[in-house]
Amino acid sequence: MKIKSIRGFKDILPSETARWQFIEDSTKNVFEKYGFSEIRLPVLENTEVFTSGLGNTTDIVEKEMYTFQDRDGSSITMRPEGTAGLVRSFIENSLHLKMPVNKLYYIGTMFRHERPQKGRYRGFNQIGAELFGSDTPYSDADLISMLWNTFEELELSKYVELEINSIGLPEDRLRYKEEIIDYFNPSKEKLCKDCQRKLKNNPLRVFDCKNSNCQEIALNAPSILDYLPESSKVSFEKLLDLLEKINIPFKINNRIVRGLDYYTNTVFELTTNQLGSQNAVAAGGRYDLLVEQLGGPKMPAIGFAIGLERLVLLHEIANNDSFNNPFDIYIACMGEDAHDEGIKIANILRKKGFRAEISYDDKSFKSQLKRANKSGAKYCIIIGDDELKNNKIKLRNMELSEESEILISELDKLEL
Ligand code: HAM
Repeated sequence: MKIKSIRGFKDILPSETARWQFIEDSTKNVFEKYGFSEIRLPVLENTEVFTSGLGNTTDIVEKEMYTFQDRDGSSITMRPEGTAGLVRSFIENSLHLKMPVNKLYYIGTMFRHERPQKGRYRGFNQIGAELFGSDTPYSDADLISMLWNTFEELELSKYVELEINSIGLPEDRLRYKEEIIDYFNPSKEKLCKDCQRKLKNNPLRVFDCKNSNCQEIALNAPSILDYLPESSKVSFEKLLDLLEKINIPFKINNRIVRGLDYYTNTVFELTTNQLGSQNAVAAGGRYDLLVEQLGGPKMPAIGFAIGLERLVLLHEIANNDSFNNPFDIYIACMGEDAHDEGIKIANILRKKGFRAEISYDDKSFKSQLKRANKSGAKYCIIIGDDELKNNKIKLRNMELSEESEILISELDKLEL
């Protein structure tokens, strides 16, 4: 019986990792330019980090967390997202005492027991960024500009749309929630079962429903933007003005409510029409109350996370060129003496910066050349008895099938 991977968990195979690495490096590069430093966090946290952080009536906490009892009986959870654990670490390590503004990013696997489909997994990877210590629209604009420029840098911005909204503070939402309940109540029976439940526990989440019937009913619902206090309206207007000034295209979408309870004021999503129903490639927003709520000081914050599987899928759609990392040189050797020389030469070439592969056995030259071809190497170095006698190697250009001879002592000067 073959042992299989767990449903919803995906291997990222060697043929895919070059693209992943390229995307991760490019993203980190942009983040570093905006002054963000990497933080590495544990996968397991005490469950209360998420129950207190994300909200008890969110889908994630209600139905999706991988929670179990540790050996000492305590309840622990595999992180379903990065923000709450990062805030836990931020408080525990008093990072706010070191700098007034802290900019951190993380990359890692998150775990949610969702129904798997294309672009939606139970184990998936995020690269996320969190900015602490500023509540001005300038920090909102700078963080959103970093997200946008990450997509520009990868030449993917033409495939995504930035949708933005402001959802005010919890007390503003209370009033709005009542209005929403009043709005939906007359058509309650026509809503899907899930939305009927949401209407009781978390009415704004009805806007997230993908059911076309529910969406139609929601069409004329009041907009949250009409329920914002003056200060939130002014900040939101200023943010939109700044985004225009720095040429970041956006669309106001007053139906974005986000699936986590910690958000305040600015929220946004980067959506694409290239990936079917899992259309959010990145999402985030401001969470000015979370640090205090998890036991820390009063500390405004804003952040986002990019779904790496979705970003990679989008990159594949936009650039289907292969992304493998071929060898520069394959070293084919015939006989023990040739192998002894070959392994020395391989190291000289690697020190010079070439990606060099060497044959480990004594197969015929023909089959070694076949392997050289398979490895994608542009050049093959051939070492046999004749070459060794003359202290030379043969250098074969695999594409042109041309060969030249080079003295072994000259190899440290090799340029290709
Ligand atoms: P989120 O919207 O839950 O936000 O997730 C962010 C992104 O992660 C999504 O837009 C999507 O691209 C990806 N994602 C989420 N679930 C899955 C899944 N099951 N499979 C594949 N990709 C998925 C957060 O996680 C917040 N912590 C973002 C944030 C950071 N807000 C403030 N700071």
